[in-house]
Amino acid sequence: MKKKDTILVVDDENGVRQSFNMVLKDDYHVLLAGTGQEAMDIFKKNSVDLILLDILLPDINGLELLEKLVETDPNTEIIMVTAVNEIQTAVQAIKLGAYEYIIKPFVVDDVLTVIRRALEKQSLVKEVTYLRNELERYHPFEKMVGKNKKMRKIFDLISTIAQSDGTVLIQGESGTGKELVARAIHNRSHRKNQPFVVVNCAAIPATLMESKIFGHNKGAFTGASSTRIGKLELADTGTVFFDDIDLLDVNMQAKLLRIIQEKEFERLGSSKVVEIDVRFVAASNKEIKNLILNGKFREDLYYRLNVFPIWLPPLRERRDDISLLLEHYLELNSTEAGKPPKTFAEKAIKTLIEYDWPGNVRELKNLVERLFTITKGPIIHLENSAAYNIGKKKIKDMPLKEAVGIFEKKYISDILDSVDGNRTKAAKKLGIHRNTLLTKTNDFGL
Ligand SMILES: Nc1ncnc2c1ncn2[C@@H]1O[C@H](COP(=O)(O)OP(=O)(O)OP(=O)(O)O)[C@@H](O)[C@H]1O
Ligand SMILES: [Mg+2]
Repeated sequence: MKKKDTILVVDDENGVRQSFNMVLKDDYHVLLAGTGQEAMDIFKKNSVDLILLDILLPDINGLELLEKLVETDPNTEIIMVTAVNEIQTAVQAIKLGAYEYIIKPFVVDDVLTVIRRALEKQSLVKEVTYLRNELERYHPFEKMVGKNKKMRKIFDLISTIAQSDGTVLIQGESGTGKELVARAIHNRSHRKNQPFVVVNCAAIPATLMESKIFGHNKGAFTGASSTRIGKLELADTGTVFFDDIDLLDVNMQAKLLRIIQEKEFERLGSSKVVEIDVRFVAASNKEIKNLILNGKFREDLYYRLNVFPIWLPPLRERRDDISLLLEHYLELNSTEAGKPPKTFAEKAIKTLIEYDWPGNVRELKNLVERLFTITKGPIIHLENSAAYNIGKKKIKDMPLKEAVGIFEKKYISDILDSVDGNRTKAAKKLGIHRNTLLTKTNDFGL
C-alpha cells in the first residue's frame, strides 16, 4: 500500500487547525502548527509533501514564511489559506511559488480537490525528474551512450574537467569517441556558447599548418593574397581542439607549447601581438608517452597538455555497452529515416557482443546503419552479406569447408543482388544449373 502523504497545516486559530485535521486525517498524515516558528521546526524535521498555510500568522508574515519554505525545499506544494480581504496577497503568494489558494470559510470538497491536484502534480514532477535522471545516466552528454563503469567514471570526469580551464589530453583507439568527449567538455563548460574550433592535424599539410593556426597577413608568403585569421583567433573565448595531435610536427609542437603558456601569438607577416583566451583540448589515438621515447613528441608539450588525461577504453573492454549502443543506433536510424523500428535477433546480439570491434564505436555505428538499410523485415539477422565482415576476422580459425561456405554464400548473394534476384540470370552468371542454385540459396537462407 502507498504510504500516506504528509500535510502540514499552519494556522494560528486552533478551531481552523482542528477542522482541517478532521477533514484530512483519514487520507493523510496530518501535522499541525500554530506559528511560523513551529511550522519551520516541523518542516525541517519531517518530510512534508504539502502545506496549508495561513497568510496571517502571529510571528511572521505568511509570504515571508512561504519564501523560507520554498527555499528550504522547493518540492513541497504550498496552498495558501486566506480570508476574502486578503486575496491580493494570495495572488502574490502564487507568484512566489505557492500552488493555489483557498478562501476561508472553505468548502470541504473544494479543499480536498485542490490538495489532490497539487499532490498529483507533485508526483508527476517527481516522475519526470526521475525519468530525466535515468535518461541522463544513459545519455549523459548529448549523444554519448554508456553505462559501463569505466564510461561512467569518464562522464563524471568530463563534468569536473568542464568546470575548469585546464588543458585536456584525450587518448584512445580510433573510433572510441575522443571527439565526442572533447565536444562534451566544451558544451558543459562556461564557454559553451562560444566557438569550438577543430584543428585536424591529420588533414592539414605540415606546410600550411602554421598559417592555418596563426592566420596570416596579406603578402606574408607567396600565395597569401589576403589576410586570414587563424584557428586560434577563431576559437577566442571558446575551445580549440587539436585532433590527432601526435601528427603535429615537432617545430609546431614547440610553437604550440609557447602559445598554451603565453596565450598570445602573432599572425604570419604581422608583428602585432594577438592575445587569446582559449581552452586547449587535444586527442591522439596513439599513446603519446611512447612517441616521446623515439623523439616524435616533445616531452614538455606532453606534460603541458596532460593536465587532465582522459583514457577512452576500446569497445572490447566495455562489452556491456555494446547492446546499449546497438539499440541506440537502431533507434537513431529509424528516427532519422522515418521508418518503423527494427531489432536484432538474439543470436545476432550475441555474436556482436563477442565481436572485437577493432574500429570501436564508429565501426558499430556504421554496421548498424548498413544492416538497418539492407534488412527488409523488422528483425535483423546477421546471416546475410553485410555480416560477412563480422565473421571474417575469425575465418583463419575455421575448418576449410566452413570458410568456403562463408565465401560461397557471400559470392552468391552478391551475384543475386547484381541481377535483382533473378535466379535464372544468376545461375547463368555463376555457371551452375538453376536447380543447384535453388538448393544453395535454400541452404544458405538467402
Ligand atoms: N559513447 C558513445 N555513444 C554514442 N556514440 C559514440 C560514442 N562514442 C563514439 N560514438 C560515435 O562513434 C563515432 C566515432 O567517434 P569519434 O569521432 O569521437 O571517435 P574518435 O575517438 O575521435 O576516433 P578517431 O581517432 O578515429 O578520430 C562518432 O560517430 C561518434 O558519434
Ligand atoms: Mg577523432
